[in-house]
Amino acid sequence: LQPKLLAGRKVLITAGPTFEAIDPVRGITNLSSGKMGFAVARAAREAGAEVTLVCGPVSQPTPRGVTRIDVTGALDMHREVMARAAAQDVFVGVAAVADYRPQAAAEHKIKKDDGAPPAIMLVENPDILAEVAALPKPPLCVGFAAESRNLADYARKKRAKKKIPLIAGNLIEHGFGGEDNTLVLFDDAGQTPLPPGPKSELARALVAHIARLLRGD
Ligand code: C5P
Repeated sequence: LQPKLLAGRKVLITAGPTFEAIDPVRGITNLSSGKMGFAVARAAREAGAEVTLVCGPVSQPTPRGVTRIDVTGALDMHREVMARAAAQDVFVGVAAVADYRPQAAAEHKIKKDDGAPPAIMLVENPDILAEVAALPKPPLCVGFAAESRNLADYARKKRAKKKIPLIAGNLIEHGFGGEDNTLVLFDDAGQTPLPPGPKSELARALVAHIARLLRGD
């Protein structure tokens, strides 16, 4: 019997969108479904890893055997990830983290009045993936780059900027939330397109690629 690809490895994954509160009932978010991140969690678990999944608001069932931590905003996600990152072998950032959040959420529901529309002051969120990659002994860090054009160019630049060994690029052709995806992997060795298919298959191929990088071949 062959040992599983990620047996004995600890893998931390982020998934889904983040929700940045404007007031108690409103916020800024995006249309990430969490499907890709959950598929990666399932594939890593099937490959024998001890998997922790930190996810924003999604309606996905928790994969069997995976430890799930639900969060709301990017700051919550950042806190939960940084508390665990140093103890991991692999970190995969699949979440569509909001780039900005309202500077402060209003304590009470903002009321419509006859004056000028309210302005929302935004501040930048921490780049969770880049921060994990900058740890003294970082886990193997994997990023995702969802782009609507210039995929290879943007993905390579993102990999360099965040200083991560592997980034999975996908073209958003039909919006978020579909069952299928197209992924191209970018690492030191170059570019590896994965056969287009269901997210479950792509997640397994990504996990196999991660296992090869961990082994160093
Ligand atoms: O810079 P950009 O958001 O396009 O990069 C996407 C990658 O970085 C994804 O892997 C995403 O999970 C991660 N990311 C993050 N924290 C942020 C923004 C992005 O971990 N604040």
